Order: sequence, then structure tokens, then C-alpha cells
Amino acid sequence: MVGALKTFHIKTFGCQMNVYDSTRLNTLLTSANMVATDDEDSADIIILNTCYIREKASAKIFSELGRLKKLYTRKHKFHPVFAVIGCVAKAEGTKIFTRAPYVSIVLSSQKYHLLPDMLSKALANICEIELFQSTHKEKEKCPKYLHLIDTELSGLEKFDCLPSQTKSDHVAFVQVQEGCDNFCTYCVVPNTRGREVSRPITDIMAEVSNLASLGAVEVNLLGQNVDSYNGVDEFGNPSDLATLISKVAKIDGIRRIRYTTSYPSKISDKMIALHATEPKLMPLVYLPIQAGSDTVLHRMNRKYTRSQYLDIISKLKSANPRVQVSSDFIVGFPGETEDDFAQTLDIVERVHFIQCYAFKYSPRPNTPAATMPDQISPEVKSSRLHRLQTALRKFQDSFNRSCIDSVMNVLFLEQSKVDPSCIIGKNEYLQPVIVKSTSSIIGKILPVHITGASYANLTGDILD
Ligand code: 5AD
Ligand code: SF4
Repeated sequence: MVGALKTFHIKTFGCQMNVYDSTRLNTLLTSANMVATDDEDSADIIILNTCYIREKASAKIFSELGRLKKLYTRKHKFHPVFAVIGCVAKAEGTKIFTRAPYVSIVLSSQKYHLLPDMLSKALANICEIELFQSTHKEKEKCPKYLHLIDTELSGLEKFDCLPSQTKSDHVAFVQVQEGCDNFCTYCVVPNTRGREVSRPITDIMAEVSNLASLGAVEVNLLGQNVDSYNGVDEFGNPSDLATLISKVAKIDGIRRIRYTTSYPSKISDKMIALHATEPKLMPLVYLPIQAGSDTVLHRMNRKYTRSQYLDIISKLKSANPRVQVSSDFIVGFPGETEDDFAQTLDIVERVHFIQCYAFKYSPRPNTPAATMPDQISPEVKSSRLHRLQTALRKFQDSFNRSCIDSVMNVLFLEQSKVDPSCIIGKNEYLQPVIVKSTSSIIGKILPVHITGASYANLTGDILD
């Protein structure tokens, strides 16, 4: 082990923000002379970038740690350095060392820039343990694992330490804002990612320009609450999301812009107007409603009503009739009655969302909703989730079918694994579109005549 370049494997769980963090971390570790590997049972270092949003997501981390340790130890008689970063790291802290003592490093999502230093210490310690195990009898006391931890929330500090990316996919993600001040009563994010902070416009412009020069065609500006973006401009004055997007639209090579995730009542009139005037801004708005009943929205501490939500959607659609909406839903929130749930189904019938995620409410530690009375039984949650998904599917299906015979612009991204004579791309509404072609079209945006549709994707022919 000593001498050779160390290999690392990052496993990412959860949202786009974690995917973004993993990409930055990959570049950071590569610049520190480590080598990325897809091979999870031979890597010297395994990093789990974790999600705490629902109970299942966080339970998965511990089972994953156990599985990887067993897998690796069977092959190598010792195990790699384990690092747990992200939201589980922030929320569970030192409890991770108690439950999984072989984990060496625990870092919040705002501290992962400390990994290279911590890894060198942990690697030296693992070598010592490995050496000890090969030279000593089992009954003798093994050296202790190092336990290195930093779960502070330090805002934008990490951005000062991360090297520029050296490669980019055609679709790039760029974090513009971190944290959330909304404190929805079910959500751990304000605890795991901290308060809202926005990156300065010049930093974001530099990052997007660099990604564009490396091949990015589409950029998705990420923030837990992206409409609250208020980073400073080049004169040090607070700016807003619409201004940021207008500037990003001027970067050479960037042809599509998206922003994620919106908070309904925080979408500004300026942003709505931009959907009419900025052709690079994609006509799909991801606007999580969570529930259709005002009583439930109030208990969730969502700061809008169903009628305000519907108003925002009609404003968006009158600004630009091509706008479609996607959303998130939570079913079985404490106290949700059958009537409340019917209001959620009613919203689905009115809005015709084209893609959605629906979740059963999951009680989370240290959130107000976890101790609210009238928790809903698992059976009722499952049945409501099923009914909601059936309703959502109907509209996704019919939207997909309504695309047949239209011409849609598609950004081509990869060869199909099922049929190598096909290339898969995404249209403006993020629907996968499959055409017969060669990999020479990857990275291009081309018009496609849509000839077929299923629930999962569209098929068509490239127009010459
Ligand atoms: N239980 C279920 N779903 C949740 N979400 C956030 N917290 C919870 C929870 N405790 C969902 C919301 C949010 C998405 C990212 O995850 O719908 O929009
Ligand atoms: Fe969580 Fe609500 Fe903030 Fe979204 S807006 S991250 S659901 S607290």
C-alpha cells in the first residue's frame, strides 16, 4: 500500500447538490494526487456522500458501510479508509464512530475541502493497523482507529479551497446558494446545510465559463432555495436570481439554463417575466407544492396557500405558454385527513404536472412535525402514495403522448446501453428522447420529430 498512488471511490446518495459536491470533491482529490476508481472493493479510500432527508435514506448509509467493509476485508484482510460526508455526517456526528468504529473521517457538506489532509493522517494510521495485524497475534491489542471529525457549518468557506474543475459533462451543475431559512416543519435541511448563503456572481460566472470551455452546453443553477439567491454583483451590491441568469445566458457555449429548487412564494415577478424573454431559460419549472390542503401547508410551515400556488402557475403560463411544471409531494403528513388528501389530488387534476416526486412523510429527528399529534399509519401513507402516483402518472403519460408529431430540441448525451445504435438525449422538459444515430451527435442540440411516447421516454427522428 505504501508508495503507490491512493485510489478513492465516492458513493453519492440523495439530491443534485450532493452530486455537485461529489464532482468538486473528485477534482480536489485528483489534484491532491489521488486516483478515482469505480471499483468499490479495491479502493484505498471509500467516501460516502450522504443524505438524511428521509429515514430510509439515512439507514441505508450504515448498511452500506457494513456491506463495503465486509466485501473489502474478505478480499484484502484489512479495510479501506472510510469517510462519511454530507448530511448524515452533520446530523449524526460522532455517533457514526460509535456505530461504525472503522470509519475514520466525518465531515459536513461544508467541510469536505478538509479531506486531503485528513486522508493522509487516516491512511498512515490504516497502514499501521494493517502492519500490526500481519505481524501480531489476534489477542494482542490492536492500535486504535483515528477518528477525525468536523461538522461545523461554515457557509461558503469550501469554495475558497476547491480547485477549478478540469472536465465537465454536457449538462453541468453549479451551486449558487446553500442552506435554507424556511424551516418547513418536516425538513432536516436547515439543520444539515445551515442558513442561506449565496455565492458572489463573479465566482459563479467564472465557474460556468470554465465548465462551458470544457464542453458544458446546459447549466443547472443549484440552491436549496434558489429563488432567495442574493449573492453580490461585481460592485458588491446584492443581486437576484433573474440578474444572475441573465448574466449566465451571455456566456459563450451555454445554450440552456435551469434553476433548482424553487420555493413557490419566493419566485419573483422578475423571474416570471424572464421566462418570457430569455430563450435560454428552459420552460420547465420545478416548484414543489408538497400538499394541496391549506391546513396541511400551514402545519408544514409552507408560506403560501393553494390558491397562491395556482396563481403563480397561471402567471408563469401567461408569461410563457410553453412553461410546464414539475413538483414534489409529501403524503401522510401528521394530521392529514382524507379531505386534505383529496385537495392534493385536486391540485394534480388542475395543474397537470409533467414530472413529480411523491414521498411518504418520514418523521425526522429534531423537526417539529416528528412530535406532532395524529401521526398517520404506514398503511394509510402507502395507500395515499399509490393513489397520488396513479394520478400523477396519468398526466405524465398524457403529456408524453401529446408530444407525438411535434418537433422538439434535444441535447444528446449518451449512447443507449440497451441498443448501441441509439443515442439518448433530453429535451427542454427533461424528457429522455431516443433516436437512431451515432455518437457524433453527443453534445449537440438538434431538432427531433417525435414519433413515439411511453411513460418513461420519447422516440423520434432527427430532422435534417
Ligand atoms: N419526509 C418525506 N419527504 C420529505 N421531503 C423533505 N423532508 C421530508 C420528510 N421528512 C421531501 C420534500 C422535498 C424533497 C427534497 O424531499 O418533498 O421537496
Ligand atoms: Fe427543506 Fe423546506 Fe428548506 Fe425545502 S424549503 S430545504 S423542504 S426547509
